[in-house]
Amino acid sequence: MIVLGIESSCDETGIALFDSDRGLLSHTLHSQIELHADYGGVVPELASRDHIRYLVPLIEQALQRAAIDKTMLHGVAYTAGPGLIGALMSGASVGRALAWALSIPAVEVHHMEGHLLAPMLEENPPQFPFVALLVSGGHTLLSHVKGIGQYELLGQSLDDAVGEAFDKTAKLLGLGYPGGPALAAMAEKGEHGRYKFPRPMVDRPGLDFSFSGLKTFALNTMQNAASAGELSWQDKTDISLAFEEAVVDTLKIKCRRALEQQQCQRLVVAGGVGANKRLRSTLAEMVGQLGGELYFPAIEFCTDNGAMIAQAGCLRLMAGESQPLEIDARARWSMQDLKAI
Ligand code: KG4
Ligand code: ZN
Repeated sequence: MIVLGIESSCDETGIALFDSDRGLLSHTLHSQIELHADYGGVVPELASRDHIRYLVPLIEQALQRAAIDKTMLHGVAYTAGPGLIGALMSGASVGRALAWALSIPAVEVHHMEGHLLAPMLEENPPQFPFVALLVSGGHTLLSHVKGIGQYELLGQSLDDAVGEAFDKTAKLLGLGYPGGPALAAMAEKGEHGRYKFPRPMVDRPGLDFSFSGLKTFALNTMQNAASAGELSWQDKTDISLAFEEAVVDTLKIKCRRALEQQQCQRLVVAGGVGANKRLRSTLAEMVGQLGGELYFPAIEFCTDNGAMIAQAGCLRLMAGESQPLEIDARARWSMQDLKAI
């Protein structure tokens, strides 16, 4: 079965072709970073318009790269939520209309399920069950995954998502948008030990997170450092490093706790912050010490992309799922509401 996947939930238009037998055939991506950079964050209406501009050309490009005619498609998958409603509607409308024109089924995909299953695009995919850490700009959660659609929530952020904390702290440091990768790049140049940030909620039992305090801690640290004059480049790199270490250490402690609680040896990490090098190496070390297995998507499939949507949609289409002609995109959507397949 060949499925065209469409991702348009936020600031990336991603298109991919996924074949149930051969895997990923092609994928194309247009990032809106330049469009939103002047505003310091995503402007929803601009995002929707840009998706509309790029969706059809990117679909044509993906078909061309895979040397496939659209009449060879068996289904269309589109992100139906959670995300920016206008952005979601752009991709959903194009996907639903294309499926109707070709008389093939269309299936809606939960954006976070797409992320969660992204490590299955790799050559050595994880087997069920596993513990999943989902870390993106809008979500931070730990889940026990027994199968597709069987997601038991173990813990989640009570306030900011990890990516959001990275972005907000980067903004305070004047690093612009998107903040996560910029802050991570600064942290690489930082000196250890100059600042020490707290590890929120690690002394309490349970698997919930809280990251908004770290942003405030960063602000106070910056104000104290600046009282001696202007914040220097070195101050900024050192604060970036201390912040990143605190986030990564906190995630490591909670992942370890989740694995032990579930008596599980497999950890899967997905979502945009999964691209963070310190997180990848720290978790690899921790899982290695436990004698377990760690799975990540390739860096390019950690952040938003069409491949993860095409794959998740293909799995659901093969299980017989599809949606009627009406489009039901939603800004909020819990993963616990998904059907097991
Ligand atoms: O999954 P994603 O592309 O979009 C959402 O579904 O939210 O995640 C984007 C988030 C942003 O907050 C971005 O700053 C963060 O992932 N991010 C990173 C890195 N790359 C992306 N955060 C830390 N280090 C990175 N290397
Ligand atoms: Zn995402």
